Amino acid sequence: MSEPTATATATPAPVTGTDGAATLSNPLRAGMSGERIGDPCSIVFFGASGDLFKRMLLPAIYLMKLDGTLPSDFALIGFARTPYTDDAFRDYCREQLQTFMPEGQKPGGALWDDFSKRIGYITADFKDTAHFVQLKERLAANDRDLGTAGNHLFYLATPPPVFPVVVEHLRKAKLTPNDNTQGWTRIVVEKPFGTDLETARSLQKTIEHAFPESAIYRIDHYLGKEPVQDILALRFANTIFEPIWNRNYVQNVQITAAESLGVEERGDYYDRAGALRDMIQNHVMNMFALVAMEPPVSSDADAIRNEKYKVLSAIAPPTYAQVASMSARGQYGPGTIDGKPVRGYREEDEVAKDSNTETFAAVKFFVENWRWAGVPFCLRSGKRLARKVSEIAVTFKPIPHRFYGEKTDTIEPNVLVLKIQPDEGISMRFEAKVPGAKDHVRAVYMDFNYGTGFGITSPPPYERLIGDAMRGDQTLFTRWDAVERAWELVMPILDTWRDSKDFSFPNYASGSQGPPSAAAIFEQWRPL
Ligand code: BG6
Repeated sequence: MSEPTATATATPAPVTGTDGAATLSNPLRAGMSGERIGDPCSIVFFGASGDLFKRMLLPAIYLMKLDGTLPSDFALIGFARTPYTDDAFRDYCREQLQTFMPEGQKPGGALWDDFSKRIGYITADFKDTAHFVQLKERLAANDRDLGTAGNHLFYLATPPPVFPVVVEHLRKAKLTPNDNTQGWTRIVVEKPFGTDLETARSLQKTIEHAFPESAIYRIDHYLGKEPVQDILALRFANTIFEPIWNRNYVQNVQITAAESLGVEERGDYYDRAGALRDMIQNHVMNMFALVAMEPPVSSDADAIRNEKYKVLSAIAPPTYAQVASMSARGQYGPGTIDGKPVRGYREEDEVAKDSNTETFAAVKFFVENWRWAGVPFCLRSGKRLARKVSEIAVTFKPIPHRFYGEKTDTIEPNVLVLKIQPDEGISMRFEAKVPGAKDHVRAVYMDFNYGTGFGITSPPPYERLIGDAMRGDQTLFTRWDAVERAWELVMPILDTWRDSKDFSFPNYASGSQGPPSAAAIFEQWRPL
């Protein structure tokens, strides 16, 4: 895992990038040329006056413009309740980009002028088919005047209860893939996909009535993170890891998605969701599937998604009797983060004073197949923990026989950590001899870091994912069978937690390691 150096790389491929000529001769960037451009299209953002649009989606699209991956024949239509004219919405977009784009990437000049004239807006009541007919006319006008080639990408960024309403009206207004004889029609569905198994199935039913699976892009922004995509590269583009990636060598796997932030302004949503729904059912389960799945036969979207589903279907959902020994929940109380006092969950805005919602969830699963029988996969996620860190740690079995090191030395097991954030990279812990005449050993680390390894900051996940939807690549989107299976796996826990209050809440202090009860399901959690 040594990092490439200028001398180690032969002839670097010419590369283009946002920072121009400097990248051309940078050997660290070898292999990074040829970013694919999306198909010409109109992208419609339902819920364009909301938070997600201004913070994540609009900046991602503008970044594509800056990077040159946005097709030149492109149009953006905002569709939401807040009244705007086209011009007022353009001004709104500019203000948001001014706020949310980093220095050096703010909107301006010819690039912004070209981008902004392709922006439009429809003030809409989501329940009124007439506004969807108006949308249809606008799309036809874009196809005619802006070269968008009959390709339509619908993005559901509204509150989730509005998803089925939009889909029903798209169907009524004849805006589905079946109605489109000119180009493609696709729909991107934000998370959460349902709030439990039943509502997820009902949403799926509504969507599949209008869109085939090949046109449905269920987004999970964790899959857009480079280190998450690197899980497959590490496993299947190297020979040395796969032979030991099994129960013969692996002691346990820990997947952590910890945050130091609280619920911020999302108390209302979060108090109805909780950590298990908000993070484990989707982001964490997706990482789990990538770590545990069998090698796919190719890099095709469905070859990979078949394997993801297969491994999820090999996990046994806990029985109701097992829930207590396989899961733990917590809720943060007041505490200290970065030296500053912060309030407890029940004091947050729009959170019930006696809320029983979990802000921390830990679950232990077993994959019942030949490769993984008996290996615990321990997943945890929570808010207001000691620090923000997402990682996958694979701990290997202890050495079988000890001859090195004095008896007093502790010999730590090897641990391979896939670091998702904030650090992005891979770290391997192994034992090394301490220099000197005595036979001492101690743990040391080999570290690979994306930033220094490739000399680039990873693109934000939404840029990659929206680009993939424009290119028709579903690899990084979750297929329905996997979403359904993930709900099946967490339902016994959700049901149990709904029906039994936890009277110890709040049971961990903000800024801590989480509730002590997590140790009851697994004793060796890595310190955060
Ligand atoms: C979202 C959750 O899906 O992911 C949030 O709804 C959470 O509650 C966020 O904060 C975490 O994303 P990231 O990329 O910051 O780890």
